[in-house]
Amino acid sequence: MKVLVVGSGGREHALVWAIRQSKRAPQVYCAPGNGGTAQEAVNIAIGADQITELAAFAQREGIDLTIVGPELPLTLGIVDHFEALGLRVIGPSAAAARLEGSKIFAKAFMQRHGIPTSACLQTDSLDEAVEAARSGRFGLPLVIKADGLAAGKGVVIARSSSEAEATIWQILEAGVLGEAGSKILLEQFLTGDEVSFLVFADGVHALPMAPSQDHKTVFDNDLGPNTGGMGAYSADWILPPEDYREVMERIVAPTLEGMATEGMPYRGILYFGLMLTPGGIYVLEYNARMGDPETQPVLLRLQTDLLDVCDALLEQRLNQVRLQWDSLPSVCVVLASGGYPGEFEKGWEISGLTGIESPRLKVFHAGTELRDGRLVTAGGRVLGVTAKAGTLQAAMDMAYEAAQKIQFRHMHFRRDIGRKGLLKERRAVSPVP
Ligand code: GLY
Repeated sequence: MKVLVVGSGGREHALVWAIRQSKRAPQVYCAPGNGGTAQEAVNIAIGADQITELAAFAQREGIDLTIVGPELPLTLGIVDHFEALGLRVIGPSAAAARLEGSKIFAKAFMQRHGIPTSACLQTDSLDEAVEAARSGRFGLPLVIKADGLAAGKGVVIARSSSEAEATIWQILEAGVLGEAGSKILLEQFLTGDEVSFLVFADGVHALPMAPSQDHKTVFDNDLGPNTGGMGAYSADWILPPEDYREVMERIVAPTLEGMATEGMPYRGILYFGLMLTPGGIYVLEYNARMGDPETQPVLLRLQTDLLDVCDALLEQRLNQVRLQWDSLPSVCVVLASGGYPGEFEKGWEISGLTGIESPRLKVFHAGTELRDGRLVTAGGRVLGVTAKAGTLQAAMDMAYEAAQKIQFRHMHFRRDIGRKGLLKERRAVSPVP
């Protein structure tokens, strides 16, 4: 069997790795891939957004299944194109991928279907946006979101009304985000615990994955600018049973029903960015794909054959599948290039990887490439050191011990990935009476 993974990040390396665990011993290709996938799959030099070239490759090579990692090709219609050619592919149609591709579409969808989400204003008017920010009608901090895809730069949390005004001006007037920022959402800021909740969806049924939590800012204690994600952990107790039921009944089910009744059944992987507030669980965002870095600790725990799940998804029988998870908590610490998420240099040699992996520890590559046989940095997020162990603390210790052995010039990483989880774990094992 031949499987193609589209994308080049840590998420895609984790997908390649999980597919290679399959009992079917598939041949795996990754387009365009990275320095890690080059060692475990065949990298194909086709960009993730070169849809016609990818489909031609899949036809030529006789690819049996394609799994699409990133959002851009999904919103550009890769799934529609592959399906029109009779190719088997995992991901939503372009219409369904608007849940991620347009924040305004997603918000209006949630409002139509009574899915809990924060109060907001959508506008393309500078005057209206500035007036709303000045009036304080959504309070402070104020969440400002560009409508379209903005490569992780589309959400700003403004702490003062002057910061909000400046951000609105930059997006709507100066056009710093281009077309993605031609419309914006202003949203009430919600406080609570964030949870990443991912499901496999076959248009009708949802099959939930183990919950996880991302760490979005660049510095410890959630300080500094947002990144694509500096680390994540996964453990079952992140979402207690009563919260799990609430999510499935009030958020996941109405989302799938709403998409189906509106004529765009959601097939693929759907990511619910949730906020557990004292007043209930709210949806912060949808993503039309797996999260990065959440995929890395989640897939390290998956014991079910991923290819069996993909078959069930394509045959609309996910209700017959029960996912098996390793009970061990897992954690992924992202090692990043100096300067990231701002300007950073590439091409620094990476060392210290030899012999550090074990059945419980895997280093997933993101921004790496093999150059003349040497592994060098090639992106902002470089590696995701991912470990699982008997306790979250033990998994953190394992990941950090391995991270200390890895070196590249100007490497930096957060030292507190998983710490929030330790507090949750204490609450989960000793509930307040
Ligand atoms: N980790 C958040 C995302 O993948 O968008």
